[in-house]
Amino acid sequence: AHRWKLRPHPKIRQGKKLMVIILDGWGEQIPDEYNAIHVAKTPTMDELKKTAPDRWRLLRAHGLSVGLPSDEDMGNSEVGHNALGAGRIFEQGAGLVDSALKTGKIYEGEGFKYIQQAFAKNTVHFVGLLSDGGVHSRANQLSALLKGCVNRGAKRLRVHVLLDGRDVAPGSAIKYVEALESELAELRKGGSDAWIASGGGRMAVTMDRYENDWSIVKKGYDAQVKGEAPHKFSSCGEALKKLLEMDPKLNDQYFPPFVIIDSIGQPIGPIVDDDAVVTFNFRADRMVMAAKAFDLETFDKFDRGKLPKIKYVGMLQYDSDLKLPKKYLVSPPQIDKTSGEYLIHNNIKTFACSETVKFGHVTFVWNGNRSGQFSHSMEKYVQIPSDVGIAFNMKPEMKAIAIAEKARDALASGKWDQVRVNLANGDMVGHTGDLNATVIGCEAVDQAVKIMLDAVEVVGGIFLITADHGNGEDMVKRNLKTGAPILDKGGKFQVLTSHTCNPVPIIIGGKGLQKGVRFRRDLPGAGLANVAATFINLHGFEAPWDYEPSLIEVLD
Ligand code: 3PG
Ligand code: CO
Repeated sequence: AHRWKLRPHPKIRQGKKLMVIILDGWGEQIPDEYNAIHVAKTPTMDELKKTAPDRWRLLRAHGLSVGLPSDEDMGNSEVGHNALGAGRIFEQGAGLVDSALKTGKIYEGEGFKYIQQAFAKNTVHFVGLLSDGGVHSRANQLSALLKGCVNRGAKRLRVHVLLDGRDVAPGSAIKYVEALESELAELRKGGSDAWIASGGGRMAVTMDRYENDWSIVKKGYDAQVKGEAPHKFSSCGEALKKLLEMDPKLNDQYFPPFVIIDSIGQPIGPIVDDDAVVTFNFRADRMVMAAKAFDLETFDKFDRGKLPKIKYVGMLQYDSDLKLPKKYLVSPPQIDKTSGEYLIHNNIKTFACSETVKFGHVTFVWNGNRSGQFSHSMEKYVQIPSDVGIAFNMKPEMKAIAIAEKARDALASGKWDQVRVNLANGDMVGHTGDLNATVIGCEAVDQAVKIMLDAVEVVGGIFLITADHGNGEDMVKRNLKTGAPILDKGGKFQVLTSHTCNPVPIIIGGKGLQKGVRFRRDLPGAGLANVAATFINLHGFEAPWDYEPSLIEVLD
């Protein structure tokens, strides 16, 4: 059996209460007017940086450091929280799918054989995010898969696109749609019957997460399965054009659902009995809900009507605990022996909290994409309901203060050894591209941090503050060489809604931190995966031998 018991740390005492604070989307970048975190008044965070040079540093939070295919890949919450919670770097979905496609292994698996049954007589549907953001999916993987299916006998193919504008530039959806349409036209020349059948923005259709708003998933289901949507067009290109004419400010991510109809007004690609369906996102969080709607026999989140008998596969298995979906094309990373599991075996009681839109990040994703808890008596997960139905720049404070107060009370109760939170603002407001709102969001984060640090002070505990990736620190597209902001023809700056490749800060401190503890100086390239060993040390234990090294040392 695996050895879960950890050795006591030779120098750090056990028994100190630890507050772990994850600032979502909070990176370090040129301190100019497009850096919302710099512009925001953040006295608490500023003070920590100024006064604790040995206990403040930067960490890599993107690319190879978090298991992505290359250092050109920006960080994201899934790979970031996986690394934070698991203390090791796992090759992530993006790369696993790339290699499965390249080697052709994807076509040999059980999942592919399953959908192949529909190739001769039925339709294969592809549902997913259409962009090259590389966070949830990648358009070149969809292209390869479409071709791979055609080469192996698929005759009729339908793509149900979700428009991005969040991991990629707002307004870029048209570019991806045009590229896909010309690929499908090529396939048609080769004799396939291949079309885009429906679409909509990712924040309005299908890609909700953590059960924040099921109506979003329902809208996708209605368009994709039933061919029902408020808008109907003769092509996806036309849909984008017309919907933009109706609302010129509409960002790709919020496009309403639409279906493509033929010359007599019939939807060209509803999902019917015996069809195959592939959700081609590799990332889990925003596909779990749709996967439930496609895969579960009993389902009560909305009325699916008569569920067609489909052969459904995910690009990956999105939840290894729930086995969801049952069939998939590529095996997900096997993220085992996470810090949370070690902690309960060593009698460390954990309280985790965030608001709905990030709740799974500090629980499900932190635990290696596992739903549920390792122990009901030793862990408590509390969710603060997020605002539903309004854009986050309309209420940029989000639930930061409520989360901080829950964390404060949890620490003060004395019941919990680790209290862990995620504050969403830098990320969720950053994704709207609204600079002023993001500034306000970051100010709320700073106030929330203050509340939690005060609570740490009262119990004589320790804090560890870090982030999962950059976002709010850069709200403008920059010239890659010079870093200069890019302006459009009218002189307005080009909004950056996506994450970044910037490093993130990590800070430790608090009365309970033993004298002499400081960051090692011999780990300049350290990243998020080094954090778990660090907090395991702060709980008074040596980290598991196979974890990335701890960031701290103790001077005598
Ligand atoms: C999203 O899903 O909102 C973005 O694509 C990525 O954001 P996250 O990685 O911060 O969740
Ligand atoms: Co984000």
